Amino acid sequence: MAKQPQESVTVTLPAVPLGYCKLGTQVAGHTFEASNAAAIGLLQDAGEGKVFKPLGKPECGEREINFYESLAAAIAATSATGNDLNDRGDSNLTDLATLAALAPHVPRYYGQQKLFVNQRQHTFLKLEDLTHGMSKPCVMDVKVGRRTWDPLSSAHKRAIEEQKYVICKQQLGLCLPGFQVYTPQLVRQGRDYGKALDVAGFRQALALFFKSSHSSSETVLREVLRQLCGIRAWFKRQRLLHFYASSLLICYDYEQLHHVKQSATHLTNGHQLEQRPAPPVDQWVHVRCIDFAHIFPAKDAEPDQNYMFGLQSLIDIVEYMLQR
Ligand SMILES: Nc1ncnc2c1ncn2[C@@H]1O[C@H](COP(=O)(O)OP(=O)(O)OP(=O)(O)O)[C@@H](O)[C@H]1O
Ligand SMILES: [Mg+2]
Repeated sequence: MAKQPQESVTVTLPAVPLGYCKLGTQVAGHTFEASNAAAIGLLQDAGEGKVFKPLGKPECGEREINFYESLAAAIAATSATGNDLNDRGDSNLTDLATLAALAPHVPRYYGQQKLFVNQRQHTFLKLEDLTHGMSKPCVMDVKVGRRTWDPLSSAHKRAIEEQKYVICKQQLGLCLPGFQVYTPQLVRQGRDYGKALDVAGFRQALALFFKSSHSSSETVLREVLRQLCGIRAWFKRQRLLHFYASSLLICYDYEQLHHVKQSATHLTNGHQLEQRPAPPVDQWVHVRCIDFAHIFPAKDAEPDQNYMFGLQSLIDIVEYMLQR
């Protein structure tokens, strides 16, 4: 029988399961590529409010799963014993209580999920979508620490990391792999923008992100500062873990800035406004620690000075913006 000519089929990447799509608000990290089926980014589901993070390299994936599973176990142990683990004098229990206290500062974890993407099965972490419910999500990924290579990195990896984002990383202990903001048009910047920044440029990027000229930006900045201080308090207390190449993800809903303004008008002139009052600010401003692929036990129970230096720089910048 004569062979039929083969039809060429063009597959649009990524090929994802029904009900899932690329995470539209992803601003940094590993992403899908149109011509590389092996490049996998984050997914989101249809309206459920979860994101799906691919595990990546085996050693990175294992560390990140271990982190989320240990945190879940610590939360379970703490709630089972009525939050009094600190008082029992058992150092293991104290460590569990310390770890559990990080929970409000990281996305909620819903276990692992296997999904077929680009015709291959991959394991994903199912996490709370920090931008869920936001109609105009402004998202900034700030990587924390002067040192972004972990204790097991090769000399080559260490050299690569030390050449990236040099000025901001050394002077502030921070770098900016990406962000998106509504101005009101959507503006997105990736790692090339972040790599070119000096300290003044980094401050300007934050001013743009928080729209320091906008009359409601103070509300956002105060809430961001409050959440950053909560994270700092945890790092000051803990001697368990060191976070390398981990980020703070800062998200707020641009749409709510107008509600804040209108509520203020409502209070000052007493007119009845059609709009509902703005939801509590901690429902539309989130600062969370993310990306635990390079998290290691603290050596000699030392505090994580590397992370705290960067975090303090960010707090200083936000405080400065609030004073102006
Ligand atoms: N829980 C979340 N909710 C909303 N967006 C998220 C969440 N986690 C991650 N993201 C988005 O995905 C981006 C990349 O996330 P992350 O840093 O965890 O992945 P990665 O850098 O690719 O990971 P790795 O370094 O482990 O390979 C973040 O900058 C953010 O835009
Ligand atoms: Mg990352």
